[in-house]
Amino acid sequence: MAKNLIIYYSRKGENYVNGGVKELAKGNTEIVAEFIQSAVGGDLFQVETVKEYPKDYYQCIEEAQAEGRANARPELKAYLDSLEGYDNIFVCGPIWWGTYPMAVFTQLEKLDWTGKKVMPLTTHEGSGLASCERDLKKTCKGAKVSKGLAVHGADAAKSEKAVSAWAKKSIG
Ligand SMILES: Cc1cc2nc3c(=O)[nH]c(=O)nc-3n(C[C@H](O)[C@H](O)[C@H](O)COP(=O)(O)O)c2cc1C
Repeated sequence: MAKNLIIYYSRKGENYVNGGVKELAKGNTEIVAEFIQSAVGGDLFQVETVKEYPKDYYQCIEEAQAEGRANARPELKAYLDSLEGYDNIFVCGPIWWGTYPMAVFTQLEKLDWTGKKVMPLTTHEGSGLASCERDLKKTCKGAKVSKGLAVHGADAAKSEKAVSAWAKKSIG
């Protein structure tokens, strides 16, 4: 049977939700990554940076923008060394300034993507998939990147049906 891996980044704390700043106990992308796991099974791998981002939403926005401009590769607490044994890899993260947080690329660039199937998922406040599909095609060399799914962050908890249907179809 094909084996699935769900790589995700998600940040708890203050975030922008439907036009206002709110405190989130669980990150939107984490909620959605767990929906994928319930739907199709597989292992979850959370990308976590050594340096924590500010809890304050506006400070975090600034830091993330600087990292994006510098095309930074923040150091991670733990790295996945290999994709051996996995066939389908879901790459899930929030949109930060038009693409995944730079930390996601820190992890992706360490892996050999030859022959893998990659499914992009984002949570966002309006940007949809932004440049994530394109960026994965560039980063995951030798992989087949399938059609992504964008989930409005504020609706993450209500997205199980849509996420489950997409996940099943993507690996189908
Ligand atoms: C640093 C930062 C940058 C963001 N940039 C964007 C953006 O460019 N476009 C967008 O639609 N949402 C943006 N957002 C909103 C998040 O993508 C959205 O709230 C997402 O669901 C957060 O997921 P998480 O809780 O898993 O971290 C940004 C949020 C943060 C904290």
